[in-house]
Amino acid sequence: MNRKNIAAGNWKMNTTIDEGIALASRISEFKRDLNNLVILAVPFIHLTTLQKKIKSRSKVLLAAQNCHHKNSGAYTGEISPTQLASMKIPYVIIGHSERREHNNETNDILKLKVRAALDAGLKIIFCCGEPLEIRRASKHILHVKNQLVESLFELSPSEMKNIVIAYEPIWAIGTGETASPQQAQEMHAAIRQMILSKYNKRTSDNISILYGGSVKASNAKEIFGQPDVDGGLVGGASLNADEFIQIINGFE
Ligand code: PGA
Repeated sequence: MNRKNIAAGNWKMNTTIDEGIALASRISEFKRDLNNLVILAVPFIHLTTLQKKIKSRSKVLLAAQNCHHKNSGAYTGEISPTQLASMKIPYVIIGHSERREHNNETNDILKLKVRAALDAGLKIIFCCGEPLEIRRASKHILHVKNQLVESLFELSPSEMKNIVIAYEPIWAIGTGETASPQQAQEMHAAIRQMILSKYNKRTSDNISILYGGSVKASNAKEIFGQPDVDGGLVGGASLNADEFIQIINGFE
């Protein structure tokens, strides 16, 4: 088993370029051991500048927060997977719940995005997670299974090596309410089992599954300590360098 621990920051639509440079510089000065990856998903317009700033300390990798499912064309305001790949951006987030909600991204569209991003050579942080009413109805595992089956499970085992899954219960995103470590572990173990059933043990053992939803310095260690939780996708708390560094330290 050689799956990586990952602390990923999702800055969303936050930071001016100066704030972004300051934040990324603080984080990239921080030393990590080789099995831990730090990924910063920053606004598109920051990618080139931050890439130059943190290049020499390459243990921090950049991600885009989205990409289009086509590589070029008349799609005003969109960014394509090949454009990201041409800038050597290694990761892209696909399927964040905010985009599913505000931009009507369906499982079918996300499947096209996954295909296009992989074909362009990007690695993907694929988000899944249920709204509160689905959790209350105890249908959360089925809901997440459908998201994975409909957008991801047409990939080959070797393509799955380029996927990181982020389980983000929608009721825990930006609300201050976190899934308990047990709730996170239950879902992560279920996701790993789905991957085992669809693929094989090597694929399910090696895929990193991150938890997202109000991760902060005070709860990261306990959540990351669960056997099937391999790190976090962190929104609000990733905007504060000290807090995010403490979260990265949650692996130790
Ligand atoms: P949050 O966001 O940490 O602010 O809850 C997580 C996410 O949306 O990825």
